[in-house]
Amino acid sequence: MTTYEAFFSRDARSFRPSAIRAFAKLINDPNIISFAGGVPNPDTFPAESIAEVAAKLIRERRAVTLQYGPTRGLPRLCDSIAALCRERGIECDGGDVLTTTGSQQALDLVAHTVLDEGDVVAVELPTYIGGSASFFARSAELAGVAQDDEGIVPESLREVASKRRIKLLYTIPNFQNPSGRLMTQARRTAVLEIAEKHDFLVIEDDPYGELVYVDDADTTAMKSRDSSGRVLYLGSFSKVLAPGLRCGWIVGPKALLEKLEIAKQAADLCSGMLDQSIVDEIVARGELGPQIERVRAFYRGKRGTMLEELQRHFTGRARWTSADGGLFTWVTFDGDIDTAARIETAVANGVAYIPGAPFFVDGSGRNTARLTFAKESDERIREGMARLAAVFA
Ligand SMILES: Cc1ncc(COP(=O)(O)O)c(C=O)c1O
Repeated sequence: MTTYEAFFSRDARSFRPSAIRAFAKLINDPNIISFAGGVPNPDTFPAESIAEVAAKLIRERRAVTLQYGPTRGLPRLCDSIAALCRERGIECDGGDVLTTTGSQQALDLVAHTVLDEGDVVAVELPTYIGGSASFFARSAELAGVAQDDEGIVPESLREVASKRRIKLLYTIPNFQNPSGRLMTQARRTAVLEIAEKHDFLVIEDDPYGELVYVDDADTTAMKSRDSSGRVLYLGSFSKVLAPGLRCGWIVGPKALLEKLEIAKQAADLCSGMLDQSIVDEIVARGELGPQIERVRAFYRGKRGTMLEELQRHFTGRARWTSADGGLFTWVTFDGDIDTAARIETAVANGVAYIPGAPFFVDGSGRNTARLTFAKESDERIREGMARLAAVFA
């Protein structure tokens, strides 16, 4: 057969390949200083600890680690996740948790469970591409909501909600991918009030909340004020331990979790038991807290270097977010600059970034770019920023 078009489902016809995957090859060329990646630095992975824990658990607990397990997740891990969430202000216990194969699966499960073709999902401008991919894959329609430095602009959300029936809002309040922004608590309250008034569900995706580099960042979860049970809170160990462990979770109202659990049964029966067992043991040994401190220290300096260099080279020519946490700063160039049109020159000059437009569902953002400070050394960040300045001279 040469074409399979006739076999594809309605949803498959709506699949969108990641517009930034194409840049992945730029990230691994050692001659290119890359601000383009979207992944944690492998030097932050607690590899020795994971190796030791894995070897021990496989030998001593094979009936758990190498066996199928409960769809909800390892009970002790669910309890630990609930404890982590309580520290973030969320009232919950282990029974309110569904573990997932990374928070990416959580996005897919929620999309599968609540969206029909044509349903409207409100997303931030810009938003995480893996999130929009999950919604497009269910044939949803995406409506962009404006952000400023305080997070979602309530008037913009109100306007979208008054024109169209929103079923779901997708938001990343803590150090958003891609913009690095932290939504203020006042904005979170305003967003919840709008959700209440217009009766839509909210996905609060929080993989970066623990990666914080300043003292005064208030990362208290929106979910902590969710009096009507409309927020699904998503978390992940990817950025604080290792994304290869594929361990994420959803905290949500019991009636919704029951449906999501059935969706997960159909998707994969259960998340990897070895992954969960490793995470569970590391948390139970009390190693997560110190690990998070190490990860923060690792990125804090790099973030500072990148901000310094932005200041040095781009003052008066661009604005950027302060990246008080997370892995990214977001640059908005003044004037009529198309960042996608300059990527070839950038690569020829030995530096890479991600043009911002693919993160906008409304086709805007041509003058924006995402830069990560996660990958390169301080020295290479300095050199890379000088190269970037030449590209945008
Ligand atoms: C905002 C956001 N959500 C979800 C994910 C998926 O993470 P994971 O599936 O590894 O937990 C990412 C990964 O980069 C992300 O940036």
